[in-house]
Amino acid sequence: MNVNRAINIDDLRKMAKRRLPRIAYDFIEGGVEDELGIARNEAVYDRERLVPHYLVDVSKRDQSADLFDRKYASPFGVSATGLAALFRPGADLMLAEAAAAANIPFMMSGMSTASIEAAARVAPTHSWYQLYVARKRAITLDQIKRVSDAGFGTLVVTVDVPTPSKRERNLRNGFGLPPRLSPALVLDALRHPGWLADYLRHGMPRFDNWVQYARPDSGTHSINTFASGQVPDQTTTWKDLEEFRKIWPRHLVVKGILHRADAIRAAELGVDGIIVSNHGGRQLDQAPAALEVLPGINAAVGDKVTLMIDGGVRRGADVIMAMCHGARFVFVGRATLYGAAAGGVAGVQRAISILREEIDLTLAQIGCPNARELDESFLMPRG
Ligand SMILES: Cc1cc2nc3c(=O)[nH]c(=O)nc-3n(C[C@H](O)[C@H](O)[C@H](O)COP(=O)(O)O)c2cc1C
Repeated sequence: MNVNRAINIDDLRKMAKRRLPRIAYDFIEGGVEDELGIARNEAVYDRERLVPHYLVDVSKRDQSADLFDRKYASPFGVSATGLAALFRPGADLMLAEAAAAANIPFMMSGMSTASIEAAARVAPTHSWYQLYVARKRAITLDQIKRVSDAGFGTLVVTVDVPTPSKRERNLRNGFGLPPRLSPALVLDALRHPGWLADYLRHGMPRFDNWVQYARPDSGTHSINTFASGQVPDQTTTWKDLEEFRKIWPRHLVVKGILHRADAIRAAELGVDGIIVSNHGGRQLDQAPAALEVLPGINAAVGDKVTLMIDGGVRRGADVIMAMCHGARFVFVGRATLYGAAAGGVAGVQRAISILREEIDLTLAQIGCPNARELDESFLMPRG
């Protein structure tokens, strides 16, 4: 697939859809229950307007962003997406490689299909690690140590998975590790020969960061079952976050906060950043879109912690709107994953460059040559 023919993220989505059997595509695309959250995440960016200023010198534009002692080339990064190798073998490291080359952060998923150590080789200065707290505390502590030894500067604790969610597409498709084999599944796989050839060559991907905690000599199935049985740890509370704050001296980010009171508590606890997020509409269908709660959270803790946001970002202008609302940085999940599924490293690079170019154009269009100067004055007030 020639990913360079994609002119927007939706083109990459369509290419990914063509390449993947339904069971895999639906795993990326799907949300929970009625998928209202996904629709909300995207619709929220159409609820407001950007009001341009003209007669501003926009001949030189700067979208670089300062975040946690680093200067990134753009104000967005690649969010954590588990099981990426199911969409293309090696996808985690492709995301890491493209992110590092584009000088944006790569957040490795706690359920990634490559290891912390491998990410450190591919993207030593751009990798963050997203932690899912395990039932066995020793595993979590060891993963944090490995992240530290690998030299990652940022640990992200995802808090919005108190329980597995009801993902109806997955239930309908017989999704599982391994999937439930049915004639329809086999037929669909045969209709996607590129994906099928990869799958037959590489087999079922495994959660690489969990290998050493499963029983010695475990095969892929046992490792995946073991890892899936370890998360989520439903007993996780603020006390645990406090413990992680004590043992992790570098930047600590909490991902999945939506309630203003939780944001205040996280700030009091000393986290460095918050990613306001509803997990891409994959956990609680009735949850607000991150953009809806961002202004309130910004008013409460915007001066104490670095506020970031994700969910529904498909356009550079979405990144700009989020920043006008007070987000310092924005993450994308599906956008870059479509790229990886459609075309590997080149596809991720394409996704990044599409968003980057659209940000650049929007900065010029609204008369704000420096992304650091985006604020609410560019938004048309609601109502
Ligand atoms: C296929 C897929 C897997 C994901 N896996 C994880 C994960 O392992 N950990 C996590 O914190 N978030 C995970 N997320 C959520 C993303 O990090 C991010 O919050 C979300 O995708 C943002 O919404 P967007 O896809 O509309 O950009 C996943 C999202 C997708 C689409």
